[in-house]
Amino acid sequence: MLSREDNELLTRVGPGTPAGELLRRYWHPIAVAKELTAEKSTQFVRVLGEDLVLFRATSGRLGLVADRCAHRGASLSYGRVEERGIACAYHGWLYDFEGNCLECPAEPAGSNFHKTVKQAAYPVQEHLNLVWAYLGPLPAPVLTHYDTLFRRDGHRKIVVHPRLDCNWFQAMENSVDPAHLQILHQEFYGRGAREPVNTTRGFTDDVAHVAFHLTEHGIMKERTYTNGVTDEHPLLFPTILRQGPSTQLRTPVDDEHTLHIHVLFFPTEDHSEPADALDPPVVYLDPYKEPPDKLHPQARFNLKHIIPQDHMAWETQGPVADRTRERLATSDRGVTMLRELTAREIAKVARGEDPIGVYRDAAHAIIDTNVDEGVRQLKTDARAIGQAARDDLEALYQAQNREQRQS
Ligand code: FES
Ligand SMILES: [Fe+2]
Repeated sequence: MLSREDNELLTRVGPGTPAGELLRRYWHPIAVAKELTAEKSTQFVRVLGEDLVLFRATSGRLGLVADRCAHRGASLSYGRVEERGIACAYHGWLYDFEGNCLECPAEPAGSNFHKTVKQAAYPVQEHLNLVWAYLGPLPAPVLTHYDTLFRRDGHRKIVVHPRLDCNWFQAMENSVDPAHLQILHQEFYGRGAREPVNTTRGFTDDVAHVAFHLTEHGIMKERTYTNGVTDEHPLLFPTILRQGPSTQLRTPVDDEHTLHIHVLFFPTEDHSEPADALDPPVVYLDPYKEPPDKLHPQARFNLKHIIPQDHMAWETQGPVADRTRERLATSDRGVTMLRELTAREIAKVARGEDPIGVYRDAAHAIIDTNVDEGVRQLKTDARAIGQAARDDLEALYQAQNREQRQS
């Protein structure tokens, strides 16, 4: 159980909030790069509670600036792009990629007024056909070179899940909550192989013990099964879960919404480097609930696969879970560890230090998150989790999903 103050501390993402400042020390995926084209050159995005417009200038370069124009507040989502940046549709104030105002067309000739105007602007970069943004203090660190995001010897697929209508920390707590797998996901866990002892326990009795330990990049959760097999899934602090071939990225949109994107990485067996290694196809998944724009209890989840079950569990905890009323148990010790780690890293940021997982050397070595072993285990029947993971992947590829390969 947390106090109301501690719950706010861990969950709020806006500018100036403790977790918001922590999250602003990392790059986050905010959009699919190919959605920004010459024909559709702007996109409204909300990131960490800030309303922004992402645009592609005529040069092809991407920019990210505050949506509300510094002049009198019209939305720059309707702006016109040119080579130098984006001009507000209303009176043409032109902003460059750093938010400098280059022109105020209706001002008298020779006026330097525009030099006094500044629009909030943030660095962006394209990687794996995603647009990544950094909303923190400059200089920006580099995008951390996790293997599944940077290795070239494999195929990738980007999967964009329906927007998650709840706070980001609920998804992250789930990442260190191994007990739920054998219960919440029991229909997929044992599908085709065997039935659980009963639906209440699910496959809980398959697990001999679980352990957690802090690592250089977050928390490692480890399950050991009664058959002796162990699986490990790292939480890469603060917003990533690594599991099998997937890297699950959770970008806080605002306090009550989260963008959920998976990067799937399948290493080649001979370490060859396919041409599309860094140019993966992007798949968008259909909504997991009906109606898609409503919250519980107006919306009902379909629970057809593992991730919809997770979304159901996370969203029905509430837009921001009320942790003043929870009853934590022994099986929640990973959750407690994550809260303590987050508080520790928030304090570091407040002292002016970099939190874990932030790298400033563009040449830093690729970080091994054990993807080879994760994929190898998937291909074998050696462990109980294998079937569930395969089913999840199968679900991701199903025909309900529409492929988006834009030129
Ligand atoms: S409101 Fe944007 S230029 Fe006037
Ligand atoms: Fe789950």
